[in-house]
Amino acid sequence: MREKKRVVIGVTGGIAVYKALDIISALRKQDVEIKVIMTESAKQFVTPLAFQSLSQNMVITDMFAEPKAWEIQHIALAQWADIMLIAPATANIVGKVANGIADDMLSTSIMATEAKVIFAPAMNTKMYENKIVQDNINKLKGYGYSFIEPASGRLACGDIGKGKLANVSDIVDRVLIELEEKEKDLLGKKVLITAGPTIAPIDPVRYITNKSTGKMGYAIAQEAKERGAEVTLVSGPTNLPKIADINFISVKTNGEMKEAVLRYYDFADIVIKSAAVADYKPKEYSNEKIKKGEGDLELTLARDSDILKILGERKKEQILVGFAAESNNVLNNAEKKLKNKNLDFIVANDITSNDTGFASEDNKVTILSKEGKVINLDKMSKKQVATNIFDMILGKR
Ligand code: CTP
Repeated sequence: MREKKRVVIGVTGGIAVYKALDIISALRKQDVEIKVIMTESAKQFVTPLAFQSLSQNMVITDMFAEPKAWEIQHIALAQWADIMLIAPATANIVGKVANGIADDMLSTSIMATEAKVIFAPAMNTKMYENKIVQDNINKLKGYGYSFIEPASGRLACGDIGKGKLANVSDIVDRVLIELEEKEKDLLGKKVLITAGPTIAPIDPVRYITNKSTGKMGYAIAQEAKERGAEVTLVSGPTNLPKIADINFISVKTNGEMKEAVLRYYDFADIVIKSAAVADYKPKEYSNEKIKKGEGDLELTLARDSDILKILGERKKEQILVGFAAESNNVLNNAEKKLKNKNLDFIVANDITSNDTGFASEDNKVTILSKEGKVINLDKMSKKQVATNIFDMILGKR
């Protein structure tokens, strides 16, 4: 195996450019190999020579390059990188990538890489808070790009607020963590995961659903894949990008999810049901669009299957993990579900909190085991929650 880790650092124009030199020097001390791409505007702040001396490697700029040269070179760099770090990242580069614009060496390399890309934005507070910039950041997060939040303080322009490049040591730590190879401790294991909402159709144009975005389940699928598992993801409708190299099954209703899950259940070693499944469906489905009348319309709902309960009843060797979305009495209710549905673990989250749970990037959960072990996790990214779930399943915590 290749020993040295490789990071491509994309440097864009801003007063924080000189801090990228500190990042490079810290990563070099950790024996990380660095190549630098500078944008035209970054070169206005610090010369490429400074980056070349510190990285002890080539610095790619567009200054002398023919367009044809970077068209070929960006592929080579994109493939070379284990990680691409964009620091400092301007509103411009964030906006370009979020909108599919690839018109220079850096933007084409970001577009062409399969490596993890981490942005460390630095810009004026008002710019950072601008809805367009925030939309672009959220869009990129949805596609799996990572961000290191800027710090607050006095900015170069004199304004006080959020927008300073994050601490160099935080950026370096984050890169080093990402470079660590995941132990393939799920190799040979078949992991079945459900994610997202289900829908219960009323007529050809209307349906009942819930607020689940699928982010938690997709993070679990990604984590399982990285740890070497053979992953089947049964997903309700979401806006999330597909995960490469897994078995992906798209479903809409409770019935379709049940059918898909039961098809794979007997072969699975670990089953994690993070989907928010509808418990009820309209008793009668109308083949025609329901027309409005004068008075109220009553909709009678019929109970639909509790898929997890069925899995609990049919459980053989599988490790069965459920979620409990609760708005009150979180732990008591979760414990009841753990017992009633014959689960091995349950992941309980309080859905009343604003900055965690549905649609959020973060989650704050408690994991309970059937043996009575209880682990309270701090607020953390859904990916980190996924890491903890598998660590708990494998007895690593
Ligand atoms: N679940 C399921 N089928 C359902 C409802 C829930 O498989 N019809 C699963 C979910 O995927 C989750 C767990 O059961 O893993 C708990 O879901 P939750 O909605 O919290 O609980 P419910 O069992 O529906 O109970 P209640 O809505 O009464 O809290």
